[in-house]
Amino acid sequence: MMDIALLDEKLSKVLSEKRYTHSVYVSHTAVDMAKIFGLDIKKAFLAGLVHDCAKYMSYDEMIDTAKRYGYTFDGMTLACPGIMHADVGALLAQYEYGIDDTGILDAIRYHTVAREGMTSLEKIIYIADMAEPMRDFDGVDRLRELSKSDLDKAFFEALRLSLEFNIKKKNIIHPNTLLAYNEVLINTREEKQ
Ligand SMILES: [Fe+2]
Ligand SMILES: [Fe+2]
Repeated sequence: MMDIALLDEKLSKVLSEKRYTHSVYVSHTAVDMAKIFGLDIKKAFLAGLVHDCAKYMSYDEMIDTAKRYGYTFDGMTLACPGIMHADVGALLAQYEYGIDDTGILDAIRYHTVAREGMTSLEKIIYIADMAEPMRDFDGVDRLRELSKSDLDKAFFEALRLSLEFNIKKKNIIHPNTLLAYNEVLINTREEKQ
């Protein structure tokens, strides 16, 4: 893996100052959550720091990068370029930042859309991305509270907020987000019975 200082420097160059600060905050939030929920702190830190590394690539650059590494986007992702940076971010993390841990790479890949069967690390990065201290939207305080006490409730709330936001904006909903939402809802319901 690339030396952490070099990785940090590279990130600060490819991201805007605001996005770089967001990434640092996501890594700190992810580390806090990893401590609470007993996960690998270093993995949470790295995944959080690198998760948006492809955020400022153009559409063409993202398509080229995917081609270079033999990666195929699913159709719904191609229809919604705003989410492509997550897939491409995982490719860059692997091939340009030298991160070879599949758990970290998947946490980057699924940080925007989520999927069924999310690992705890994937959930933490998904939540930390929405709950980091710079975020300011209705419901963020409740999400922050849940993110300190109940990983699945926090994940469900993050998915719910994301769906609500995207429906209001008439954005495309990736089916994997709905699958993740239904999965958590069903699991929680079964727990209640
Ligand atoms: Fe992102
Ligand atoms: Fe982000």
